[in-house]
Amino acid sequence: MRITLLGGTGNIGEGLALRWAPKHDVVIGSRSAEKAEEAAISCESRLRTEGITCELYGEENAQAITHSDVVVLALQYQFAIATAVAIKDQLGGNAIVISPVVPMTKDGFLRYVPADKYGSAAVEIQDILSNNNVVSAFHTTPAARLIDLKDKLGLDVLVCGSEQPKATVMELIKDIEGLAPFDAGPLEASYMVESITPLLINVSARNRLKNSSIRIIGQSIE
Ligand SMILES: NC(=O)c1ccc[n+]([C@@H]2O[C@H](COP(=O)([O-])OP(=O)(O)OC[C@H]3O[C@@H](n4cnc5c(N)ncnc54)[C@H](OP(=O)(O)O)[C@@H]3O)[C@@H](O)[C@H]2O)c1
Repeated sequence: MRITLLGGTGNIGEGLALRWAPKHDVVIGSRSAEKAEEAAISCESRLRTEGITCELYGEENAQAITHSDVVVLALQYQFAIATAVAIKDQLGGNAIVISPVVPMTKDGFLRYVPADKYGSAAVEIQDILSNNNVVSAFHTTPAARLIDLKDKLGLDVLVCGSEQPKATVMELIKDIEGLAPFDAGPLEASYMVESITPLLINVSARNRLKNSSIRIIGQSIE
């Protein structure tokens, strides 16, 4: 698949680029084509040190989404919304858009602050993109752990969206060794998943932890 990471020069973008590049065509998007190309070269060289040879591509955001099967909005909330508006007309109708976006503010502690009208970042993005398949995922996946290629992860990823694009994204998550996808319902359920991130960060800050994530503990039903 051709996966474009908008804001792929940042934390979660770099982590996903490194983890997906061995199996997919990864395009790093940036506001600056030069910065994107540098990030792509840097990822290639990081992967080479682990004995993995693959090519990544770096392009300016608008160019980067061309012919993409999957686009990840690897951007802070306010930039993700602005970028979704900017790319709306260019994005192919069948492209899957992954939102790891968590709207948060700090006011003594971190609070989850989605726009009242939508209830979650993912629903707001779906509303902007209308024809596209938005799937929310990776909210509880610490970028630092993805970036550390020696980290074997062992983390669960909650995924919300409509059935077909969600199934595709769950397969993409399985392509990252050490990540297990869990179906968390339709996109309308994304507010619950998004709100786990500030909770994890608040708990971490008070309990001398970093890069906290989640595991689902349950007994399987035959
Ligand atoms: N970091 C994590 O561990 C983590 C984990 C789970 C979910 N998330 C979510 O993932 C999203 C991205 O987080 P992040 O930590 O990866 O973000 P980040 O590193 O702070 O920023 C990502 C990219 O945003 C672009 N950017 C900066 N200012 C911008 C502007 N004014 N307009 C447009 N683009 C701008 C930059 O790319 P260019 O300068 O190259 O354009 C930057 O590299 C957030 O919504 C966050 O809640 C993060």
